[in-house]
Amino acid sequence: MTASNQLALPASLIAPDVLEGLSAEPKFLPPKLFYDAEGSSLFEQITETREYYPTRTERGILEQNAPEIVEAAGSNLTLVELGAGSASKTRVLISALLRRQLRLEFHPVDVSPTALKQAMASLNGDFPRLHVRPIVADYSHQLPELNDVPGRKLVLFIGSTIGNFEPEEARTFLKRLRTSLRSGDALLLGLDMVKDAHILRNAYNDAAGMTARFNKNLLARINRELGADFDLDEFQHVAFWNRRKSRIEMHLESRVDQVVCVPDLDRSFHFFFGERIHTENSYKFTVSSIKSLLRQTGLKLERSWTDPKEWFSVALARV
Ligand code: AVI
Repeated sequence: MTASNQLALPASLIAPDVLEGLSAEPKFLPPKLFYDAEGSSLFEQITETREYYPTRTERGILEQNAPEIVEAAGSNLTLVELGAGSASKTRVLISALLRRQLRLEFHPVDVSPTALKQAMASLNGDFPRLHVRPIVADYSHQLPELNDVPGRKLVLFIGSTIGNFEPEEARTFLKRLRTSLRSGDALLLGLDMVKDAHILRNAYNDAAGMTARFNKNLLARINRELGADFDLDEFQHVAFWNRRKSRIEMHLESRVDQVVCVPDLDRSFHFFFGERIHTENSYKFTVSSIKSLLRQTGLKLERSWTDPKEWFSVALARV
């Protein structure tokens, strides 16, 4: 590649978010930046750690209750999944739906075309009566035209992804989603519940250090994409339970007083000893906070399912 070609390369798409977050007081980085290829693979590895219970607990709830869930959702459904990724947990529901109907249309929505392609290839192989119609979209910003999706819909928004939205964002998002659905359509929401603080803390401080690597990948990504010189050893992963706000907070804390250069932003950023970059909130819910969230967005909570320890909840809401 010639020098002039290199100059013509577009700046990384993360530049505006990084500039805004690192210039703010206190500093922050939006959690959507976690999910480049490396971050998505680290997240998959988190879900396999002993301490991170949400993924396997939700999968257990779906496995235990899939026939009941799809029956409660209605008949002749079209399945939509927001943030489908590999759609691995969805297989349980697809199998249950295909026991009740001859054919099933599945519209997985995800920002990553690669994740969608992989999901499509493996689902098509395993379920001949399933018709996968992938939609590439950043559903957190702009919901795709769900009105154009034919039939009665069951929309999945599982994995407690709603917990990574600020409460106001969650309300706005669900209100927008409700307006893009028709009466009778259903939403299946996965939500992580409030529980003992040490269980919550451990889930975000796993002994193998996967969550720490996932958190620090944000800095590695800024190094890769914006030419920054973050020294990953000079920051430490911090995750704690904020009981008052009902959320796990993740931060990256500077171990020293330091200056980091980000050439592609033409900026450097000063970090004082102990200064933190706030990288994620993961809200946890109670039965009453789920009810009030749905009430405020005009959705009706119809039924919910949980695991024996009541650590996670899968809620069916109706428009
Ligand atoms: C994707 N999301 C629901 C995860 C969570 O638990 O909030 C992201 C995550 N962050 C650290 N570990 C997992």
